[in-house]
Amino acid sequence: MTITRVAGPLPGPRGRELLEQWHQYEADVVGFQAPVVWESARGCVVRDVDGNLYIDWTSGVLVTNVGHCHPHLVRMINEAAQRLLNNYECANVERIEAARRLVQALPEHLDRCFFLSTGSEAIEAAGRLLKRRTGKFEILTFEGGFHGRTTAAAAFGGMAGPKRGYGPTLPGVIRAAFPNPYRDPFGWCDDGPEFPRYFDYLDQVVMANSTGSLAGVLVEPYQGAAGFIFPPAGWLKRLERWARDRKLLFALDEVQSSYGRTGRMWALEHEDLRPDIVTIGKGIGSGFPVSAVAATHDVFACLSKGEMSSTMGGNPVSSAAVIAVLDIMEREDLVARSASMGEYMKQRLETMKAASPHLGDVRGMGLVLGLELVKDRESKQPAPELTRPLMLACAERGLLVGSVGVHGNVIRVAPPLVISREEADESLNIMEQALRSFTPEHAAV
Ligand SMILES: Cc1ncc(COP(=O)(O)O)c(C=O)c1O
Repeated sequence: MTITRVAGPLPGPRGRELLEQWHQYEADVVGFQAPVVWESARGCVVRDVDGNLYIDWTSGVLVTNVGHCHPHLVRMINEAAQRLLNNYECANVERIEAARRLVQALPEHLDRCFFLSTGSEAIEAAGRLLKRRTGKFEILTFEGGFHGRTTAAAAFGGMAGPKRGYGPTLPGVIRAAFPNPYRDPFGWCDDGPEFPRYFDYLDQVVMANSTGSLAGVLVEPYQGAAGFIFPPAGWLKRLERWARDRKLLFALDEVQSSYGRTGRMWALEHEDLRPDIVTIGKGIGSGFPVSAVAATHDVFACLSKGEMSSTMGGNPVSSAAVIAVLDIMEREDLVARSASMGEYMKQRLETMKAASPHLGDVRGMGLVLGLELVKDRESKQPAPELTRPLMLACAERGLLVGSVGVHGNVIRVAPPLVISREEADESLNIMEQALRSFTPEHAAV
């Protein structure tokens, strides 16, 4: 008996009908996804409106870390919703408990948090804290970085998509290249732990671009949207020290990388980082919209009463979700599970790489793994033309995957952390078959 079941070509009849209706009303502006209309999901398994069953390697977009519709999460949200939906800035029982639990789950020095609604909102808040705390206005960020789509968040990012066609972006953002071990033309990645070549370059970037008002650094522990690019081991720690030596604040964007995704609760644990500010989103509500910015009380002290606020932030229902997710993470030991299942899946994917000429790189840690598609392994030329056919080949066999990457050629392997060995094996088998279905002609299109 298999977990997945797909009867006939996609979309199925009901799915086709609904997809045809969809964009008569809602603008057709989202990215490419397999033509599936989701009806329900539990754990790692998604059911569509035609009754087809898929294993999910997307977690939405690295959101549903505790599994889709975890019963404890659903119950806690329901119970809170029966009592109170919103009370704006007033205290409510869930908000107080959620703040206590979140701060307790964070590294000790991060002793304050503030609840917001989306990752972008958390980034906007982090940007304000960086500037207000230092009295300076420049922020160093990275090419390929993605921090959201609101105006400041998009400006902090180093991807063109969220900015194209909207005119000049926020002044005061200085961007440096992010070291990429798979594509490393300047040899920045192999001279750790000090990385002198990279940090000489970084000094030059600041010298050439800063007006002398640099407040701090904002960086993702790994670049998510750019293609799950993990910097070389030790680089983040060195970056933190580089920032400290220059009396800059260090802000880490853990919107995507936290809540067990990398095999640790926080990605910062891998290198024992001590950021002044951390942004948190996605997994914190595992499907319920909530985000947070965490920092030291010293950083938050730069704001007076009334200077940070959010209409939806800290509402009782999203706060209940924060508590429930932490309960589940602890009870089900999901951080350890992410580390061990990630290792298992990565090993099998590495084996597939050896057999697939178009699979240039398998990378990542925990349950955030990227499969980079290339025309051939020697040239490493990106092959974005393979992404859609591979996503469709997977969906037709019962596996939902998404894509990322500056070139759109990286397949996301990011299932809910509750994925079982059976679900992992079946989904890996599907990926293996889908990869085999490719011939060199696909790359030539
Ligand atoms: C690292 C990172 N920061 C910020 C964001 C923005 O979050 P949101 O889409 O919830 O605004 C994202 C979203 O993908 C992200 O990956």
